[in-house]
Amino acid sequence: MPKAAVKPKKVRMRKPAGEGVIEEAPITVSVNGKSYTLSVEPRLLLVELLREQLDLTGTHVGCDTTYCGACTVLMDGKAVKSCTLLAVQADGAKIMTVEGLAKNSELHPIQKAFGECYGLQCGYCTPGLMMSTYQLLSSNPDPDEAQIRKAIAGNTCRCTGYQNIFKAIQAAAQKAKGV
Ligand code: FES
Ligand code: FES
Repeated sequence: MPKAAVKPKKVRMRKPAGEGVIEEAPITVSVNGKSYTLSVEPRLLLVELLREQLDLTGTHVGCDTTYCGACTVLMDGKAVKSCTLLAVQADGAKIMTVEGLAKNSELHPIQKAFGECYGLQCGYCTPGLMMSTYQLLSSNPDPDEAQIRKAIAGNTCRCTGYQNIFKAIQAAAQKAKGV
């Protein structure tokens, strides 16, 4: 997975009454088509921004160490692990989370396929897997098994044994060519 470039940020200092100095940086980010202008601490992780400030809790945190892929979102169309990126690195970017898949209360074909093929059990890994699937099918609408395995190599599932996940991704490809 390509590493996102770190953009230098202007940092402004804020000093709340009675507390130490907190450094913050302004960012503008589009999430699921909605633009947000925010002031964030430079240490804030992208996943923390999504979950704790934007209340988009579909993106999960499993390991916090870039291993499990539960936190996978799309940044400018590429699957990234949002526990490994700072929010300031998303400045100017378009982020898509699992909440961005469904449209007008209609589940996305990928979501339908995971449900119909029993591609999940506890569901903790599922949002990340669906975002990796979205990236795969966006560039390769008819992937073979090797390509599917490679696309989800960064997503760990501790429940399913993966077979139904492969079936779900193949079914999603049939349902939605070129999502
Ligand atoms: Fe990000 Fe596990 S929480 S890779
Ligand atoms: Fe439980 Fe994948 S369904 S971790």
